Amino acid sequence: MLLRSRITGTGSYAPEKVLGNFDLEKMVDTSDGWITERTGIKERRIAKGIQSASDLGVEAAKKAIHMAGIMPKDIDMLIVATMSGDMPMPSTASIIQEKLGIKNSPAFDINAACSGFIYGLEIADSFIKSGKFKKVLLVGTEVLSRFTDWEDRTTCVLFGDGAGAVIMEPTKRNRGIVSMQLHSDGSLWDLLCVPGGGSRHPASKETVKDRLHYIKMKGNKTFKVAVKALESLVVNTLKANKIKPSQIALLIPHQANLRIIQAVAKRLHLPMSKVVVNIDKYGNTSSASIPLALDEAVRAGRINDGDYILLEAFGGGLTWGAALIKW
Ligand code: COA
Repeated sequence: MLLRSRITGTGSYAPEKVLGNFDLEKMVDTSDGWITERTGIKERRIAKGIQSASDLGVEAAKKAIHMAGIMPKDIDMLIVATMSGDMPMPSTASIIQEKLGIKNSPAFDINAACSGFIYGLEIADSFIKSGKFKKVLLVGTEVLSRFTDWEDRTTCVLFGDGAGAVIMEPTKRNRGIVSMQLHSDGSLWDLLCVPGGGSRHPASKETVKDRLHYIKMKGNKTFKVAVKALESLVVNTLKANKIKPSQIALLIPHQANLRIIQAVAKRLHLPMSKVVVNIDKYGNTSSASIPLALDEAVRAGRINDGDYILLEAFGGGLTWGAALIKW
């Protein structure tokens, strides 16, 4: 019997501070009506000044570890998906490792922007299936509010802070990750980026003056590419596994825009009751959005043993990917 990887624990954390659409009306030329109609977002969470990506990630990880019924010392691999890590070096994974007291495990970050959690799942799945690691902690954590230009109405209404985490373990049962699909089209990298602070435009007075340390997005073009890519991604993922859309118990999409989520559900003829939507509460939390939504669904009892669930994400890179899971 082949080894498979299975999610045995989930956890999430969102900072307490809520920033609502009406608060944003006082900051930039926007309205609750515009944000709600174009994105589905009503509010988002903002980390406290002293909270960084590792702090949020640790809170989510503790809950996932508890649900899995293991101890931090049992974890033999730690992966963190983030585009807003504590600092360029070391990895946020190393900092989370120290905060959780995990010893003797490799720890590293991956950056596939909003698709980071899906990329992390495939990495964890491959290592577990190979037999090399047995208890993998995968965290998606973001403090995007520090990379948000609060003077740019086209982006500042979209993003929020949060974290989600899963524990993955091997199983010989017919459960766990069935199939993964990862994609990237680097020719479209400039649709969504943070241009400053790296080796191309290192931090300087000019990069600060030119606001290069903030998220820049060509929203409308990104929207069109996202809908097209995600529609064919989910259809192809199910086809490749001979699964009919009606067999999917729950779709857990990356929460970037309610209209994108609805378009993908429509393409699969899935009623919205089979789709996890929490974008109204959190906005777009990038690599944290899927594990946050997954954890909420698990704790609300929306997923049962043997259910097929489909995860999908799209983000900077441009990157996109899906995971088909038998729970
Ligand atoms: N409030 C009010 N008006 C706004 C606004 C805001 N916050 N932001 C933009 N506008 C205006 C624009 O200036 C534009 O005005 P104009 O017609 O006078 O030029 C108008 O609204 C339409 O802008 P547009 O960018 O075409 O809107 P849209 O329908 O594409 O919605 C997004 C904008 C960002 C919500 C949408 O494009 C989107 O969600 N994109 C994809 C996000 C995504 O998937 N990212 C990848 C994963 S992270």
